[in-house]
Amino acid sequence: MSTDAIRKVCIVGASGKLGQYLVRQALDRGYEVVGVCRERSVPKLAAFADRITIVPGPTNDRDVVRKAVAGCDAVLSILVPWGVRQYSSGTAQAVLDFAEPGARLVFSCGWHISMDGEDRYSWRLRTTIRIVTPLARLVRAVDIDDQVEACGRIFASDRRWTVVRGSDLEEGESQGLPVWSRHVGDPVLASNLTRRVDFALFMTEALTDDSLIGQAPAIVGRLSPSARAHAKGAA
Ligand SMILES: NC(=O)c1ccc[n+]([C@@H]2O[C@H](COP(=O)([O-])OP(=O)(O)OC[C@H]3O[C@@H](n4cnc5c(N)ncnc54)[C@H](OP(=O)(O)O)[C@@H]3O)[C@@H](O)[C@H]2O)c1
Repeated sequence: MSTDAIRKVCIVGASGKLGQYLVRQALDRGYEVVGVCRERSVPKLAAFADRITIVPGPTNDRDVVRKAVAGCDAVLSILVPWGVRQYSSGTAQAVLDFAEPGARLVFSCGWHISMDGEDRYSWRLRTTIRIVTPLARLVRAVDIDDQVEACGRIFASDRRWTVVRGSDLEEGESQGLPVWSRHVGDPVLASNLTRRVDFALFMTEALTDDSLIGQAPAIVGRLSPSARAHAKGAA
């Protein structure tokens, strides 16, 4: 399927902050939208209720995902490491298994995911991950390793995927399409801050950017100091 043929998009995790930006941007582009979110979160999508189809249920429920992605040309998935019941890997696997052949698949995660082991992390990020991962698992709140597992499965698949790796996020008006690099540690990414709306923008734009297929871009705000310094250097 060609990316210019995208008409119908499924958003898995549509009720969250990132998900709601994705819903708005997909509707603005004229796509038909199917959103998946937990039953209790359906009211969060009230503003879009008459313009999208909502499939309520846990995003790692295979039947829910199978139903939601049917007939969709693309799937935007928010991978979140909640709980210790394979929430991320279950979501990713279901999308990989049931999305239409040739569908464009775009997933979100954080900088801590590495596709090729070539990322160079700051001491601060390494320490945070090292401390937070076992503690969060201990209290059964978050399983960061499961997000790593989810992305490993995506990287190994022959689907038309992109994994967008977000920096620290902030709210605020769009600054435009984020700048990206293949590896965390590259100077352009040093500011480590992106507007959440622009994280969504990068994912939405990726749907029609075939050069991002099979890539795991790490992004940073286009007006962040490191991105500006990089642009100035390039000029
Ligand atoms: N936050 C950051 O600083 C940051 C940094 C880098 C990358 N990212 C990435 O950005 C993406 C979005 O993260 P976000 O922090 O901005 O959050 P978000 O967009 O608000 O999304 C959170 C998602 O998690 C779901 N959720 C919350 N509690 C849950 C639970 N107990 N069980 C199951 N699902 C639950 C929410 O669904 P409901 O609406 O049903 O609650 C929502 O879909 C993720 O892929 C994350 O890895 C975030």
